[in-house]
Amino acid sequence: MIFPPQAAEGIKNVYGIPMKKPRALIFRCGSCGHEEPKWLGRCPECGEWNTLTETAVSPGSHAGRALSGGTAPRSLPLSAVDPQEEKRVGSGIEELDRVLGGGIMKRSAVLLGGEPGIGKSTLLIQTAAAAGTRGRILYISGEESAGQVRMRADRLGLTANLDRIEMCCTGRLEDILVILEAVKPVLIMADSAQTLHTDEAGPAPGTINQMKFCAYELISWVKDHDAALFLSAHVTKDGLISGPKTLEHMVDTVLYFEQGGNPGGGGYDGDCRFLRAVKNRFGSVDEIGIFTMGEGGLQVVADPSLLFLVRREGAVPPGIATASVMEGSRSLLVELQALTVPAKGSVSRVFSGSIETNRVSRVAASLEKHLGLRLSDQDLYVNVAGGIRINEVGVELALAAALYSARTGIALPAATAIAGELSLAGEVLPVRKKAAREKTAGGLGFSLFTAGDLKGAALALFGSVKLG
Ligand code: TYD
Ligand code: MG
Repeated sequence: MIFPPQAAEGIKNVYGIPMKKPRALIFRCGSCGHEEPKWLGRCPECGEWNTLTETAVSPGSHAGRALSGGTAPRSLPLSAVDPQEEKRVGSGIEELDRVLGGGIMKRSAVLLGGEPGIGKSTLLIQTAAAAGTRGRILYISGEESAGQVRMRADRLGLTANLDRIEMCCTGRLEDILVILEAVKPVLIMADSAQTLHTDEAGPAPGTINQMKFCAYELISWVKDHDAALFLSAHVTKDGLISGPKTLEHMVDTVLYFEQGGNPGGGGYDGDCRFLRAVKNRFGSVDEIGIFTMGEGGLQVVADPSLLFLVRREGAVPPGIATASVMEGSRSLLVELQALTVPAKGSVSRVFSGSIETNRVSRVAASLEKHLGLRLSDQDLYVNVAGGIRINEVGVELALAAALYSARTGIALPAATAIAGELSLAGEVLPVRKKAAREKTAGGLGFSLFTAGDLKGAALALFGSVKLG
């Protein structure tokens, strides 16, 4: 058993209370690089035992500057604090502004995670070229050469801001800090966290320790200099743990890029990409950014419902229902597609990527119990056109309708958008934002349908209730 190192004798704080440690020392975990002001037997970050060792913080680092004093710490009445709200700048990309909560906040750090090839670098260069910031923009590329980034910018037809975007192709923190002081950018794009390294955080490049140390220094720099940082990070094969996840607690906003499917309609080229906030100190995490990725890079979609509705000649086949859902503050119509087939195994299974399988099972159980529609011997497949993930409860009645229609072979009436949450008792609970839903549905030539209970909904939509 290792005991905490003994406190240094004779050092007192401003209140005359003996201090346990000289303040320029910290305890750093040898496994993940997490830092603690005091010794602990177990690292709270990675859970490893006996990995925290006493480390002298180098005076040049931000942590060192903070710990070794300089100016005396002081507090401020909240009324005297400068509100930051007016310090937002438009990113020039509407869907990005939406997920950020209304633009790029000064002194903020945004982590942009996603699988390789999803479009992180594309979004960074498009944002650099479109951002409404006044000063210079530093694009740090640890993966691509300056020539490659320029080629991409040209291919995307980006012409604005090119004089203001300073390129630097290195991942070495010491070099980056020198460049930061020389350029004094207001916006920094760091692509990617995994390529950052420093001599200060151990000899092996590419470790979590290296990435965290460097990210912390960049974040500190933007906080001290009224700038903003976008830091991209790959979601690696072994999951999130060695990648962006370890940086999430350091930044203000965490955005993840998700891969969607092909657009259902609307004539958009490329496939759908969704930008979702999982943490946002400056806005809601409900909003999503909707893009298509095609020849022209990431495109903002003017009417997203067009991506998630399939235009058909003739009648709508059984198993198809149109749901009215809210994604953040935005009302959308999306096409749900359901298929039921006799279960291949002894237990029936649910295959659903875009709606939680638990929700599908619960809705299927309600149909079985309250309408007598046997689904427990069926495998259930559920899709959403465009591959958008739907988390809103208001999708449940439409999901019930799609499953009912798939199982009975009766098609739903055309141009009907369905909204409603199901209770386990078979009631349909009213949805929020009905007026917004009606407006969206009306604009696309749909009428909004909702009902008081499952049986009433089945009678109205299918003309009869199938029992047994
Ligand atoms: P990229 O931004 O390099 O992804 P990341 O930085 O997340 O690894 O995007 C690369 C992918 O996007 C690649 O598969 C090609 C595609 N793409 C387009 O389809 N159109 C474009 O205009 C661009 C720039 C990329
Ligand atoms: Mg990239």
